Amino acid sequence: MTQVYFVTGTDTNVGKTWATIALMQHFKNKNQSVIGMKPVASGCEKINGEWQNSDALAIQKMGSLFVDYSLLNPYAYELPISPHLAGKENPANLEIIFTNFKTLQNLTDVLIIEGAGGWYTPLNESETIEDLAKKLNVPIILVVSIKLGCINHALLTLQAIKNANLNCIGWIAVCNDANFDCIDLTIESLKSRLSISLLGISPYSTTYNPLIEFTFESD
Ligand SMILES: Nc1ncnc2c1ncn2[C@@H]1O[C@H](COP(=O)(O)OP(=O)(O)O)[C@@H](O)[C@H]1O
Ligand SMILES: [Mg+2]
Repeated sequence: MTQVYFVTGTDTNVGKTWATIALMQHFKNKNQSVIGMKPVASGCEKINGEWQNSDALAIQKMGSLFVDYSLLNPYAYELPISPHLAGKENPANLEIIFTNFKTLQNLTDVLIIEGAGGWYTPLNESETIEDLAKKLNVPIILVVSIKLGCINHALLTLQAIKNANLNCIGWIAVCNDANFDCIDLTIESLKSRLSISLLGISPYSTTYNPLIEFTFESD
């Protein structure tokens, strides 16, 4: 059975991509084959005639096997704005994402899917990340950027996930705010208020560091 996780976050720019890459590394270190997916991405560059996104490219590169770009990122939008605006000409179709997800799931031991933005980010005129997560119906991992305001955002997001009847198996703390000096107390405050386990902490680093010590209950 392929293990699949859907990575969401308290907002955009909270560390979802770093966490996704670190999760991929974690499973690779356990000798499992891993593929990542970034179904919808805003903010792309034209590479060899195709719009491509830096998150999706990093995720593609980290995979245990090569996966065609359009399979892991079927919706790559030029502008770095909300997908429902960036993708007006080619709105995300959850059926197509689901088909790609099934294809990728059959190729690997572990599949990590990075969302876009936060939980209620619109993907088209009527659907959000929540609708995509419901369609995929896989365990969710919540990434929290440790900064002022994150306790409120984390509690709201977890409540929304629970209201959707989805299983959030844990959260990851990403310390990506260099100016925030209340990291330890904030992580402790989150630990005592979130009803899910802390899977790992990504300490502040000026260079990319995929080595987060994760603790999964299944380990
Ligand atoms: N542990 C960390 N230390 C310092 N900066 C980080 C860390 N993790 C992520 N970042 C930075 O935070 C920003 C957001 O990270 P990213 O993974 O791209 O977020 P998201 O995918 O949620 O938009 C990026 O500029 C990234 O380089
Ligand atoms: Mg990202």
